[in-house]
Amino acid sequence: MYHKIMDFRSDTVTRPSEEMRRVIAAAEVGDDIYGDDPSSNALCKYAAEITGKEAAIFACSGTMGNLLAFTTAGRHGESLLAGKRSHVWCAEVGGFSAVAGLCPYPLVDDEGVPDPAELAVASRADNDVHHPDTTILALENTHNYTGGIAVPPERFAQTAREGRRLGFHVHLDGARIFNAAVRHGVDVRRYTDEVDSVQFCLSKGLGAPLGSMLCGSHELIEGAKKWRKRLGGAQRQVGIAAAAGLYALKNNVARLAEDHANAALLVDLLKRGGVEVEERPNMTNMVFFPLKEGQVGDAEFEARCLEKGLLAHMISPRRARFVTHLDVDREDVERAAAIILEVLSA
Ligand SMILES: Cc1ncc(COP(=O)(O)O)c(C=O)c1O
Repeated sequence: MYHKIMDFRSDTVTRPSEEMRRVIAAAEVGDDIYGDDPSSNALCKYAAEITGKEAAIFACSGTMGNLLAFTTAGRHGESLLAGKRSHVWCAEVGGFSAVAGLCPYPLVDDEGVPDPAELAVASRADNDVHHPDTTILALENTHNYTGGIAVPPERFAQTAREGRRLGFHVHLDGARIFNAAVRHGVDVRRYTDEVDSVQFCLSKGLGAPLGSMLCGSHELIEGAKKWRKRLGGAQRQVGIAAAAGLYALKNNVARLAEDHANAALLVDLLKRGGVEVEERPNMTNMVFFPLKEGQVGDAEFEARCLEKGLLAHMISPRRARFVTHLDVDREDVERAAAIILEVLSA
C-alpha cells in the first residue's frame, strides 16, 4: 500500500490547504509600502484586535518579528534579558546583538519562563557606570526547547509583571502563543495583556505558508515599519500571504487542540514501547526523547526513519524532536510511533 512521507520535523512544514489556496488566489492586493494592500491592512487590524494592542505589522518571519521588537524598543549598548534556552538566544543567529546592538544577559528558563526573583539582580539598575542599562525582557511561550511547554497564564504573568515593574519593555516571542492559549483554555489576551509587544507566527501550527505578526503600541509599530524597511523586509503585494494568514487565524486556532492530542498519543505509544520521553507539565505539540548510548547514531536514526516514510529531526545531538501539526493525523502518529520503535530497537 502507498503511504505518504510523514513529516514530523516541525509544525513549519505544513502546506496551504485547498481552501487556503482559494483565499490566496482571490486576495485583494496593493502596494503595502504605500499602505495600499487591503489584505495586509485587514490582517494587521485583526492581529492587533485579538492581542489587545494598538497596532500590528506583518513581518516575513518570526525571527524578523522578534528582531523588529528589539531594534525598535532597544538601543545599541543596552541589555536584553532572555532565557538561556530561548529561541531568540539559541536560534536567531544573534540578531539582537548583530543588528539591534543589544548586549545579552542570559536567564535560567528551564521551566519555560525565568524566575521573577532573577530579574531585579539581572537588571543591574544600580547606576554603576560599568553596567549596560537593561531595557528589554524577552519571554517565550510556548517554550520550544524545554519541550514545547505552555507556561500557565498565572505563572507567565508573575515574571512579565515583575519585568514591567522594573521598567523593562517586555516582549513575548509568542511564535506558538495560540498553542499556549488553547492548551490552557484561555483567550490569548491572558498572555498578551501582560506584555508590551508580542510576535506570533502564522506559519507554524496555524498553517499559513509564511509570515509573523508583531503587535504593540502605535509608537512601537511605527518604529518597526522603519526597521522593517531598513532590513529589506518591506514588501509590495504582500496581501497574497496576508490573506492566508488571516484565514489561518480565523480557522485554525481551535484545532490546535487536535495537534496536542496527537502529541499526547505519540508520548503514550512511545512510552509503552519503552522510550524515555521527556515528560513536562503542560506539553503541547512537541515530543522530545533522547537516543541512548548503544542506540542508533543521530544521522542513521533520521536516515532509517526516512527509509520507512518518516521525516525525523534531531534537534541537538542525541535529542530527537517530533512535532504534530495540521498535516499529520492520528493514523500518522500511530505509524510514526511504530517506525520510531522499530528503528530504536534495531
Ligand atoms: C519559539 C520560536 N520563536 C521564533 C521562531 C522563528 O520563526 P521563523 O522560523 O519564522 O523565523 C521559531 C521558529 O521555529 C520558534 O520556534
